[in-house]
Amino acid sequence: MTDFSPSRAHALELDAQDPLASFRDQFIIADPDLLYLDGNSLGRLPKAAAERARQIVESEWGADLIRGWNKGWWDAPRRVGDKIGQLIGAAAGQVIVCDTVSVNLYKLIMAALRIQSGKKRIVTDEFNFPSDLYILQGAVQTLTPSPPSPLPNLGEGRRGEGQYEILRIGSLDDGITPNLAALETAINEDTALVTLSHVLFKSGYLYNMRRITDLAHRKGVLVLWDLSHSVGALPIALDDWDADLAIGCTYKYLNGGPGAPAFLYVNKQLQEKLTSPIWGWWGQNNPFDFDLDYEPAPGVNRFLAGTQPMLSLLTMEAALEPTLKAGMDAIRAKSILMTDYASFLTETWLAPFGFSLGSPPDPAMRGSHISIRHPEGYRIARALIEEMNVIPDFRAPDNLRLGFAPLYTSFTEVWEGFNRIKRVMEEKRYEKYPRQKLAVT
Ligand SMILES: Cc1ncc(COP(=O)(O)O)c(C=O)c1O
Repeated sequence: MTDFSPSRAHALELDAQDPLASFRDQFIIADPDLLYLDGNSLGRLPKAAAERARQIVESEWGADLIRGWNKGWWDAPRRVGDKIGQLIGAAAGQVIVCDTVSVNLYKLIMAALRIQSGKKRIVTDEFNFPSDLYILQGAVQTLTPSPPSPLPNLGEGRRGEGQYEILRIGSLDDGITPNLAALETAINEDTALVTLSHVLFKSGYLYNMRRITDLAHRKGVLVLWDLSHSVGALPIALDDWDADLAIGCTYKYLNGGPGAPAFLYVNKQLQEKLTSPIWGWWGQNNPFDFDLDYEPAPGVNRFLAGTQPMLSLLTMEAALEPTLKAGMDAIRAKSILMTDYASFLTETWLAPFGFSLGSPPDPAMRGSHISIRHPEGYRIARALIEEMNVIPDFRAPDNLRLGFAPLYTSFTEVWEGFNRIKRVMEEKRYEKYPRQKLAVT
């Protein structure tokens, strides 16, 4: 770890040495006093995206009208997919932008299970984004005749019915790190699929994708990765790591905007073997022939279903510009320095108030956010948002989650954010807030 100091002068010095510092100017900073530490949930608005959104609405939708489809709209899912491919180490023709993370996960789980039929086990972990677990349970139900709801609990982290058993790997004693030995043992010849988040949404733990993929492949198992918390935050090499399948989000570190469409990756070797469970016209071989029977489009296009949200998709395309320009190695280098700095400030300033680090201490084992844990985490988050102009988020039961987006988060912002958390603790400002949670935390 770099030798940090808790002085503001040190934060200013880190900013002065930051090769990415100028990228902050490429984002709308509407309130300079706002300390935004939630880019891992919703990225800031890039100026290029704001300008492009205006242009899409006024010139393309407004003037081109339906002609827009032949002027770059129809091809956008593939074109933008290839741009995202550059950020995740995927050669052209393997990434497509469409739908939501949840829907893409469903499509790829169903497609994978169909070609792995006869195998019973699906391995995941209890740290996965809960919605990913719901989607998985729903997929298993779809494939099971007359399924009960919820799926019966088989004990020891297992749920299942009929053909499938979903095995959720637990943690080591620290509650942060998945039990890798248990994961490796669980992946056996009877396993159809492993599906995990590359970076865990609470602790920020980063899986070794290559190692798990190699292990799974030796047993004939497919692996599906959720890249939502790693894409745009750290270098990913899907092709080099021989990944099978992946999905990911564009409104976090890719700054695509609220509800911007997600993406999915299907390795070229698998594309012709897999079928989407949703047979829509966008995934049909010749949609404008209007054939009455479905024939899948070649390649990754078969995972499209219907019309995509063009305003959002094209805005997101422009939002990728700063990330593509900065490059993932530079982004990762700054991200590691930032999460290290934040860990140092947690230890120095906040540990005396009862905070503990809820993320791996080794930066090589985490993504670009950290969780700091405190029994009053929820009320502290409320005080920060409502009185201190600091935006973190809260993840139950006790995680105050702080995200660092290297393109626009400055070291001074991090310093000031921690300074304000310290003040909330010193002045016990959180005590006036109810423990009852708001709908969105
Ligand atoms: C890791 C992860 N997976 C899946 C999702 C669900 O994404 P969506 O709501 O876009 O389907 C999220 C949303 O935040 C997430 O963080």
